[in-house]
Amino acid sequence: MDIKKILREKAEEASKNAYSPYSKALVGSAIQMSDGTIYTGCNVENASYGGTICAERVAILKAVSDKKMQIEKVYVYTKEGWPPCGMCRQVMSEFASPTMEVIIGDVAGKETSMKFSDLMPLSFTPDHLKI
Ligand code: THU
Repeated sequence: MDIKKILREKAEEASKNAYSPYSKALVGSAIQMSDGTIYTGCNVENASYGGTICAERVAILKAVSDKKMQIEKVYVYTKEGWPPCGMCRQVMSEFASPTMEVIIGDVAGKETSMKFSDLMPLSFTPDHLKI
């Protein structure tokens, strides 16, 4: 099966595990790492709202905690086709492969794909700290 289809299915499935009693938003993400492995995440909210973690960051932290450091593709699924928030984009920039692709999918099957560098031009990366 096509990798985008696999990521979409896994992201949609992950969205069903969302813990979102406050916003009720169901967000799912599936990311493919440079070694081909796939990690998923859902949004996990908190009564102290600032403790909420987005689906994309949950997937990324799961991968990094397994020492998988380079992301090739990120799929984010919501009913409405929400784009990744700014904080998620910043966390992605830490672990993005030079050609990383981001795909935004909605319930109707609409998909918008872009290079990460187009989603977040001029991002602040670990390279900037090599001083
Ligand atoms: N959310 C995500 O999971 N990813 C994003 O990129 C945008 C927002 C979640 C966080 C919160 O649980 C809900 O959507 C509303 O902001």
